[in-house]
Amino acid sequence: MSDALDPRPFAIEERLAGVRRVIGVTGSKGGIGKSVVASTLALALADQGLKVGLFDLDFTSPSDHVVLGIDRTFPAEEFGIDPHTAYGIHLMSVAFFAGDAAVPLRGAATTSALLELLAITRWGELDVLLLDMPPGLGDTSLDVMNLLPRLEFLLVGNNSKVVVESVRRAAMLLAELEVPMVGLLENMSRGDGGAVRALATGAAISYLGVIPFDSQLEAALGDVEMLRKTDVYGALARIAASL
Ligand SMILES: Nc1ncnc2c1ncn2[C@@H]1O[C@H](COP(=O)(O)OP(=O)(O)O)[C@@H](O)[C@H]1O
Ligand SMILES: [Mg+2]
Repeated sequence: MSDALDPRPFAIEERLAGVRRVIGVTGSKGGIGKSVVASTLALALADQGLKVGLFDLDFTSPSDHVVLGIDRTFPAEEFGIDPHTAYGIHLMSVAFFAGDAAVPLRGAATTSALLELLAITRWGELDVLLLDMPPGLGDTSLDVMNLLPRLEFLLVGNNSKVVVESVRRAAMLLAELEVPMVGLLENMSRGDGGAVRALATGAAISYLGVIPFDSQLEAALGDVEMLRKTDVYGALARIAASL
């Protein structure tokens, strides 16, 4: 189908009409805790009484349903697809459609999956829709910047030199493209120095604070009651209140 004939970009605006804020959780590197931060922040915001959506955009390795322990069943369908709702969070993920199978996708198919999910998902009225971004600034990140209205980014980093360098590049690109940044937070901190704070200050991004490395987190994944008792949740609940 030629792009000009594709009706989906028009449907997207309508599907997101009731969504007040759209915040992408990014940070460019993999394994720095974007999915943990996006899912736990969604939980903290919902616990604070907000209407929260969570959209897992890491199509090839979706994880938010694992963090939150949400069933991977096919969602309800009527004039569109309803996100799964649990703990006050409305979650959409390719995991609901893929069953146990892997989801290998290349360029055009990634864009199509994003367009399709955005065009069919009934988000309804939300205070905030969090996007759990895949690593890197590839197809999905660029598509999200083209397709989503009212987009802001929350950046996740840690104190490793390789991460700081990569987050610095991501922040530079977002600034160039004039995409608003909510702030930068430091995950898995072991109290090992202020490289992330320095990066935030240097790039004039607001520094949202520290999430400690939490050895209790692994056992709490998939169990929301335990997750609420972790230091990760505690730190994100404080950050949530300041967003
Ligand atoms: N603050 C933290 N303390 C301990 N482990 C963490 C913390 N944040 C994330 N992790 C762990 O690090 C790994 C990568 O996290 P994940 O959220 O999947 O990263 P990403 O989405 O950036 O690839 C997971 O095993 C996760 O449980
Ligand atoms: Mg992830």
